[in-house]
Parts: sequence; C-alpha cells; structure tokens
Amino acid sequence: MTPYAPFPAGRPRRLRRDTFTRNLVRENNLTAHDLIYPVFVVDGQKQRVAVSSMPGVERLSLDLLLPVAEQCVKLQIPVMALFPVVDQSLKDYRGSEALNPDGLVPRVVRALKKEFPDLGVMTDVALDPFTSHGQDGLPDTRPETEGYILNDETTAALVQQALTQARAGVDIVAPSDMMDGRIAAIRAALEAEKLVHTRIMAYSAKYASAFYGPFRDAVGSAANLGKSNKKSYQMDPGNSDEALREVAMDIAEGADMVMVKPGMPYLDVVRRVKDAFRIPTFAYQVSGEYAMLKAAAANGWLDHDAVMLESLLAFKRAGADGVLTYFAIEAATLLQNR
Ligand code: PBG
Repeated sequence: MTPYAPFPAGRPRRLRRDTFTRNLVRENNLTAHDLIYPVFVVDGQKQRVAVSSMPGVERLSLDLLLPVAEQCVKLQIPVMALFPVVDQSLKDYRGSEALNPDGLVPRVVRALKKEFPDLGVMTDVALDPFTSHGQDGLPDTRPETEGYILNDETTAALVQQALTQARAGVDIVAPSDMMDGRIAAIRAALEAEKLVHTRIMAYSAKYASAFYGPFRDAVGSAANLGKSNKKSYQMDPGNSDEALREVAMDIAEGADMVMVKPGMPYLDVVRRVKDAFRIPTFAYQVSGEYAMLKAAAANGWLDHDAVMLESLLAFKRAGADGVLTYFAIEAATLLQNR
C-alpha cells in the first residue's frame, strides 16, 4: 500500500510551461483601449508645472496639452479626462467659475474636440477645483448645521456645471461628487436640451479615501480643504453592499457607465459591481496609488514597468472594462512595443 499516488492527479503547470501556452490560455488582457488618461490643465501659455507628489505628472496649459492629446490618439488611448487647476482668485464659496461657459474647462474641451474629434473627452462634475473651501459641494452656513454639504442645492449647481461642459461638446460627463439624485437631475437636464449623445460615467462608489492626497495637491484644493473631510458624502471604506445600492441607483437614474474609486484597494467592489450589474464598469487607479508605485520604483524596490502592467491587468481580472490611470501613456507605449 503506497501512501501517495505515483503522479499528481493533474498537472496545471503544463499550461504555464512556455510563453506561447501562457499567451494562448490567458483569460484577461490589457490593451491601450482599456485606458483613460486623467490630465491636469492650467490657464495660460507654455505652462508646465510638475506635481511633486506625482512624479511624471505635470499641470499643462492648452498649447502643451494638445501634443499630449495627439499622443493619446497615436497610442489608441480612447479617452482623456480633464481636471482643471483654477487660480485661487477665481475660487469662491459657490464655485461659480465651474459654471462659466468661457471658463478653462469649456475652452479646453472645445479646442480638443476641434483638433482631435476622434479622441474622447471626459470632464469631472464636482465643485472642488472651484471652491474656496475645497469641498465638492455647497456647505451649509446656518450655525447649527454649519459645514454640512447641502445635497439638493449642490445638485442644482452640478446640473449647471454638467450642462456647461456638455454645451462645450464634451463626450462624457463624470459626476464625482456623490450627492444623492444627481445622475437623474443631470440626465433630465441633458435630455431637456436634446443633448442626447452626452454619456454619463458616474463615480457611483466613490470612497472617502486618503489615497486622493496627491490629486488634491495637483488641483490645489488640499490647502483650501484644510482639516475638513468629505465623509458625509463619500462612502465609508468599510462598506461594499452600499456600493451595490449606489450603483443600482445611478443605473436607474440614467448612468451609461459606472465607476469604483479608488482602484487597487477596492478590487473586491469592482468584482461585485460587475457580477451584479453587467454594465460597463470602470475603476480609478487614483493619485495615491500612482504615487505609491512611483515611489517604490524610484527607490529600486519594485520593477516599475512590471508592477505598472500587473496592477492594470489586475483591474481587468477583477471585471473592470477600463481603468482611469496616470500611467496611461507609459502603459500604452509599453504595450505597443511588446
Ligand atoms: C473631485 C475628484 C477627486 C478625485 C477625482 N475627482 C478628489 C476628491 O474627491 O477629493 C481624485 C482623483 C485622484 O486621487 O487621482 N471630486
């Protein structure tokens, strides 16, 4: 009587033996078409300002952004996501500059769509780059409830912001504010103006995360926000059933695509959302995730290109149809030369 069989019951290693077999049986693949490139745009000419907490990321004026857009087209990156860096002098309590039809965002959208009609352009719907307090919405000023972000008043402003972007010709509006009911309100307003082609990518499950720090440096909202936080509207990191309820509401309200944010620490949420709804699902590999990988690579602790591609492929495996990532250009370049 032998205690063990003379050979293993199966040999899964057969399918891992050679590159050709691994290529043949791989379940998920990463391509440039999976990537959305977030960029920071600033007013003026010949402006190129590095973001110190995001090595390789720069705030660019439109003239310097156009060649980047051209690069996206060449690399087959389908969409660029715009984030404005607004001068402090233009920021106020209401974030009024977000509604200016000749503001930075509408001007950049018009120029990009004119020069590169085939490149998708997406804009963020939230007030934080425009407010003196750095919140995404309008804080209550009544003494007993001071500071609470007013839902319906904020939604009214977001509707106007989204319309301003859609009228400028943006392809996708992406509400990142987490107010209740804002997708329905924005969709109704778009329909009322016959802006029937404007797609909505809802930041449906957006968590109150500490991984947004470098982004807030980049758009200059960190100092304005100070010690206050966004926990009364962004989701609690302990929850995931709640993410499904948020996604269900956004789909019912008219979202075309949904998003989970941050990315890597929330891949379980991406998987649950994809399995439950089978709708185009995106994940945002946020500024802090990018900073983390860049810092480790810069120290020689991780292999930059390998972790970059592995981290992005992991989003596909988790069920994401695409990823917003500051690595988009570097990743697409590498994929092209492989
Ligand atoms: C604005 C917004 C944020 C991000 C995208 N849109 C910051 C925040 O909610 O404070 C974060 C992106 C990143 O960290 O890369 N509402």
